[in-house]
Amino acid sequence: MKALVLSGGAGTRLRPITHTSAKQLVPVANKPVLFYGLEAIAEAGITEVGIIVGDTAEEIRQAVGDGSALGLKVTYIPQDAPLGLAHAVLIAREFLGDEDFVMYLGDNFIVGGISGLVDQFRADKPDAQILLTRVPNPTAFGVAELGADGKVIGLEEKPQHPKSDLALVGVYLFTPAVHEAVRAIKPSWRGELEITHAIQWLIDEQKDVRSTTIGGYWKDTGNVTDMLEVNRTVLETLEPSIEGSVDEASEIIGRVQIHPTAKITGSRIVGPAIIGPGSTISDSYVGPFTSISENCRIEDAEVEYSIVLRDSSIIGVRRIEASLIGRNVEITPAPRVPAAHRLVIGDYSKVQISK
Ligand code: DAU
Repeated sequence: MKALVLSGGAGTRLRPITHTSAKQLVPVANKPVLFYGLEAIAEAGITEVGIIVGDTAEEIRQAVGDGSALGLKVTYIPQDAPLGLAHAVLIAREFLGDEDFVMYLGDNFIVGGISGLVDQFRADKPDAQILLTRVPNPTAFGVAELGADGKVIGLEEKPQHPKSDLALVGVYLFTPAVHEAVRAIKPSWRGELEITHAIQWLIDEQKDVRSTTIGGYWKDTGNVTDMLEVNRTVLETLEPSIEGSVDEASEIIGRVQIHPTAKITGSRIVGPAIIGPGSTISDSYVGPFTSISENCRIEDAEVEYSIVLRDSSIIGVRRIEASLIGRNVEITPAPRVPAAHRLVIGDYSKVQISK
């Protein structure tokens, strides 16, 4: 069995902080969301992985390399334009050969991995298996309609009037039967070859398409509240390890991971929290559900329930909460006179200032 991971698409969608980089590389607990997918694939015993790349190919290649660090053998498959998920299957035909495969959307996150699902698929051998999850906003997804016996009777892509709240999760298990389907369908109103239509084609051809409904699902929408929540969920399962240097005057409480090259002095860190490589925390408080990435400097400050990306510093400020701080950001107190806010803020940012 092989895996096809989709990390293409344009890198230019409107999103906070990462609008210049691949959405599959958005960090969750200091690790790109794509890596959780790749790890889940490796855990399921699959080693041959094709990664579809588009505009952001260079960034993805730099992050994943040849995959050997994750125990994978990665083949990159360039896609000239994001012409749809089924188009990705079309262009991966040679890589996939006649093997069964799992297709994994690189911006999707599934708590608990996919090993159970892959094992079940291997045992039952349906023509295709889809995953569903209940969502409050089905119009933003592919949506499934199930019959009384739980069988999938229909699928619609981003319907205006959804027939259920069961959204298609971005993990699909396919047999080679899908290749005929992706060749048979036509582009949708948004100009994409939809995998949803290819699966509907299989259903219409009386193929055995099964579904499993799961919980613990997240997809990157660029929404800060969602990002903080998925960060929290992952931090809650963190293996505590304090390998960096922590001085006598510091106190570390609960599930905390401190990278061997991080340095903590005179500070209190209350987990779950993660402190990345080369970061220094001095005379500060880092509270629960916080991810501090690489080479950050937190000095005489308080940060809680937040994500701080690489090379940023927070110095001399009290309390930063429920915040997403981008790369290379400096946060410092304003001079007392004049009493004014001085801001240099990137495009599409949102700032809340206490009056
Ligand atoms: O996330 C689940 C949803 O993913 C499903 O519910 C929908 O049925 C399915 O169509 C898909 O919807 P999106 O419109 O949200 O997919 P998006 O365009 O964001 O692409 C998903 C991933 O696949 C993303 O990591 C980029 C990559 N991609 C996308 C396209 C269109 C490619 O690699 N190539 C492409 O041509």
